[in-house]
Amino acid sequence: MEDLIEDAKLRPILDSRGRITLEAELSSSGIVARASAPSGKSRGRREVVAFPKGGWRTALRVFSETVREAILGHEVHDQEGFDSLLREIDGTPNFAKIGGSTAIALSMALAKLGASLSEMPLYRYLGGIGPKGLPRPVGNVIGGGAHTIGGPTIQEFLVIPEEESFLASAIRAAEVHARIPDLVRGRKGPIHLGVNDERAWAAPVDDREALSILREVAGEMKIGVDAAASQFFDGKRYEFMGKRLDPEDYVVELGSLVEEFGVFYLEDPAAEDDIDSFRAIVRAHPRVLVVGDDLFTTSPARIRELGPEGVARAVLIKPNQIGTVTDTLSAVAEGRRWGMEPVVSHRSGETCEEFIAHLAVAVGARFIKTGVVGGERTAKLNELIRIEEGLGAKS
Ligand code: PGA
Ligand code: ZN
Repeated sequence: MEDLIEDAKLRPILDSRGRITLEAELSSSGIVARASAPSGKSRGRREVVAFPKGGWRTALRVFSETVREAILGHEVHDQEGFDSLLREIDGTPNFAKIGGSTAIALSMALAKLGASLSEMPLYRYLGGIGPKGLPRPVGNVIGGGAHTIGGPTIQEFLVIPEEESFLASAIRAAEVHARIPDLVRGRKGPIHLGVNDERAWAAPVDDREALSILREVAGEMKIGVDAAASQFFDGKRYEFMGKRLDPEDYVVELGSLVEEFGVFYLEDPAAEDDIDSFRAIVRAHPRVLVVGDDLFTTSPARIRELGPEGVARAVLIKPNQIGTVTDTLSAVAEGRRWGMEPVVSHRSGETCEEFIAHLAVAVGARFIKTGVVGGERTAKLNELIRIEEGLGAKS
């Protein structure tokens, strides 16, 4: 039976920073599906653009003038055809005309509509009938970099609880998050701590202090960092922990921190175009999960290009970096072709959209990075708790 898109809407809504993002709504046979785009702050150079020139108002106008008519009547279950149609309507390599937020919101809404009409959970609709397991949460507990004013150079300090169940792991991450202020006060005295864009603690500590707090609070748990190193690289040198370092020296400096504190998860340790440093880090730390975020920007073409280079062991998967569900799934497959596992991720600006929770289960990701507390973060965690319950047995 054919299911055709009967109505399509796009509206501005607020994201977790109080800025405008876009929510799409598609309907067919009395079923309505809704999805909204997140928004990054420390973006990779190769990401699709969020809005056309002119911002979200222009995106709404372009939608009503050129996109809406073209997608009405499209078959709901032809995700690939729909996503190619979006690319065709846009006609640019980076969704500069219709905007990446419009594209990803529509593309995710279509997948959700397809799942509802098929009476299937979204993770099954996207991921097929094979056995499914739950990822484990990678939780941001101390913030720095572009997400935090003051604080360390490194953008995110992460804990990775790997308890029996997803639920127990999410609870562990929240317990760790709650302990951070006391540990900071133990070192810095009675100060007030705020939280940053991703609800990680904003603390007046340097990178070494943050790592030592992280190690102390994590105990046996794996720990990680997202250096987001493009943010402190000027094309020649890294401005890291108060020093200006050549790439070769920076790799050694960062590497010694990784070894000293037993960092397992290491995201964007080098700037997105500094391929030599990525390669050197992967070689120097054979047991570390080096993850490429700005490096790959969820782009199947970029992953294919860098695949043979040995620059990472995992690909961070952020659907709005590439603009469609089809390309997101291709990025996962392309990464695996080169021996790199997917790590599904939120953005620093979020909504209560739960799509990535299903995506992580659909692709069998070992890890999902989606924050620890705050409604827009727990929307994903709580959806994973529900999925775990739905899957029954241990996952
Ligand atoms: P962003 O950063 O969502 O602000 O771009 C998150 C990350 O670097 O992982
Ligand atoms: Zn990152």
